[in-house]
Amino acid sequence: GVGIYQGTDGFLYCDALKVDDIRAQVAASIFYLYSWQQIRQNYLAYASALEGLDYIIGYAVKANNNFKIMQLLQELGSGAVLVSGNELRLAMMAGFDPTRTIFNGNGKLPAELELAVEHGVLINVDSEFDLANIQAAAAKVGKIARVLIRINPDVDPQVHPYVSTGLAGSKFGIRNTHLQWFLDQIKADPNLELVGAHCHLGSTITKVNIFRDATLLMVDFIKQIRDQGFDLKFLNIGGGLGIDYARKGDVLPTPKDLIDTVRDLVSSLGLTLIIEPGRSMVANSCAFVSTVTGVKTNGNKNFVVVDGSMAELIRPSLYDAYQHIELTAPHDTEVQKFDVVGPVCESADFLGKDRLLHTPKAGDGLVVMDAGAYCMSMASNYNMKLAPAEYWVEQGSQLRQIRRAVTLDDHMKVFEGL
Ligand code: LLP
Repeated sequence: GVGIYQGTDGFLYCDALKVDDIRAQVAASIFYLYSWQQIRQNYLAYASALEGLDYIIGYAVKANNNFKIMQLLQELGSGAVLVSGNELRLAMMAGFDPTRTIFNGNGKLPAELELAVEHGVLINVDSEFDLANIQAAAAKVGKIARVLIRINPDVDPQVHPYVSTGLAGSKFGIRNTHLQWFLDQIKADPNLELVGAHCHLGSTITKVNIFRDATLLMVDFIKQIRDQGFDLKFLNIGGGLGIDYARKGDVLPTPKDLIDTVRDLVSSLGLTLIIEPGRSMVANSCAFVSTVTGVKTNGNKNFVVVDGSMAELIRPSLYDAYQHIELTAPHDTEVQKFDVVGPVCESADFLGKDRLLHTPKAGDGLVVMDAGAYCMSMASNYNMKLAPAEYWVEQGSQLRQIRRAVTLDDHMKVFEGL
């Protein structure tokens, strides 16, 4: 098998390796475990879906900024989508060609824009003030800024409001009724080159016709913009493809399904398609592994208390997100309904609610599945929990550490000399 899965023997595997063997080997009670093969496979699914089109796959680094994972995707041919100056610096260190990276955001800072212009990054214009800041950065650096206009298409992606971004009332993108103002500004500034249009609808989208609806709207905008003499090359339709968090075997749209719904529109206009996948590139490649501290009952609730928590993995607490939970080994104990919770001192600290699990005991391994996106990258130090190590199984069977755990010494470094 490839990725994280339960074997026919009831044990959990990462590629060819048993997660329990890995736990014994690394001697850490909490860690992130990735399948190198799964990440590769996810990237190649996009690349083959895009065959026959001109394209840039912009991996959304915010989903997972592990340097080794970034290097892997870069070596496979990926571009990168960035939301901060530090993400851009990291991407360049990982070898990404900056002219195939895209800088997004509603609050890009002047210094970050200067860095982006300096390196020829594609910049998505988000607002009036953002455009003014890009113009100032281009003038200061003395280079032409290549920009795309982020249009808010006002399409409902039918997802959790926190990850919905393309509605009229969202904080992202320009009001599409205000497009002409932007075009006039850009036309008048020799330091700007308008090269494309961008939209991003939201995240965890599981219906690909939503992408087609948005692309149809974008095609109209592109025609309007081209009619004014702009030589648009890029249509950037953002990221947002969901994954099968429920793990009930539902058939979800694949990258190919997504690309196939927009292929005719993109090729008939002679455009280069940019897509910005984050979650669908890395989420399913990873398990967050932790260790059971104990089992308790309060009122009519049973709890499995583990040492992992909302500090390492906040999606359940923040979005009420469902991520599947499994024990790493088969049990013949009673199946009960448990809340799986961490040691952090607040009730929001849970990894899963009302999960049917065999009753585990202290020391057993428990994993949260599909933890490759927006988990480690959203970790905090709340309750002085320090970032755990990360490992991957390379080439299907070789365990390698790809990040060491932060130590208390590391933590104290920021106070040195104060
Ligand atoms: N492009 C733009 C402009 C974005 O804002 C995002 C994600 C992406 C691409 C990548 O979207 P993806 O393919 O990963 O869905 N922390 C939340 C997700 C926030 C997504 C933010 N924007 C979560 O854990 O579900």
